[in-house]
Amino acid sequence: MGNMMEPGQTVYFEGQYMPVEEANVSIMTHSFNYGTGLFEGIRGYYSSDEDNVLIFRLPEHVDRMVRNFNVLCMDISETPEDLANICVELVRRSSFREGVYIRPICYKSELSLGPRLDGVESRFCCYVIKLGDYCDIESGLDVVVSSWRRLSDNAIPSRAKSIGSYINSSLASTEAKQAGFDEAIFLREDGTVAEGSAMNLFMVLDGQLVTTPPTADILVGITRNTVIELAQNELGLEVIERPIARTELYVCDEVFFCGTGAQVAPVRSVDRRLVGGGQPGPVSRQLQELYFRVVRGKIDKYRSWCTAVY
Ligand SMILES: Cc1ncc(COP(=O)(O)O)c(C=O)c1O
Repeated sequence: MGNMMEPGQTVYFEGQYMPVEEANVSIMTHSFNYGTGLFEGIRGYYSSDEDNVLIFRLPEHVDRMVRNFNVLCMDISETPEDLANICVELVRRSSFREGVYIRPICYKSELSLGPRLDGVESRFCCYVIKLGDYCDIESGLDVVVSSWRRLSDNAIPSRAKSIGSYINSSLASTEAKQAGFDEAIFLREDGTVAEGSAMNLFMVLDGQLVTTPPTADILVGITRNTVIELAQNELGLEVIERPIARTELYVCDEVFFCGTGAQVAPVRSVDRRLVGGGQPGPVSRQLQELYFRVVRGKIDKYRSWCTAVY
């Protein structure tokens, strides 16, 4: 990503808006020591028609974070409405009129030792950066099955989007990039497909759109849910959630990733085997095109998914 904060930019920290330079945590902070925090990644898209930034599916991101409080025994003073308002307010205060990425974090803020979850104070903080495309969404990605396995739900639950669990993603992403690939695909301990390092996976096979189920050690993506809805409602496709075998990725017609960062990103090859001849396929293309119209508020039916900032 590489995009960093502007000097003096406003963030939310310890119940207040303040310049980023003043928002610092102690080295004794529980989440700094044990990775005990949850985060979200939310995009806002600039609409030139409306001269506004539209935040995509903000309530759904807040809802996912708040539901996951239960996994990490968290409780904070802000309400879900407060969290959504803080996200909007931070973009407003940034004055950005381009693509943005909002990073809300709920973390164990106590200066205490011991990796216990209950009874440890949590706090909420949030910042905004400018963000364009995160990976190549045009020509297709060259991806590799990782030698690292996806975390299992009974070890560190992927669904929680917890800070510590991203070591798993970092290992896979680093390995793939060091070997000259664009991205990694995680298999589960049972050898079936889970997802990418920070994105969900779909394949097109026999006219069906197939993706791995919420029980496949994935983060249940909001983009994934969006793609499922658009594929069913707008393209009339049958969407199947079922386990995917590694070699199905070699023989299927199309593979694509989706996620807030990745958006809708076609895959050109898996393990050096071209997928569908090596060109982004028609379903990936159509869904990508639809997605970009939806996030910019251009389709009335889905306008309620966009929250205008200004
Ligand atoms: C591991 C992982 N899977 C999937 C996704 C996609 O989730 P979403 O569409 O909610 O951004 C992400 C985050 O972007 C992720 O980190």
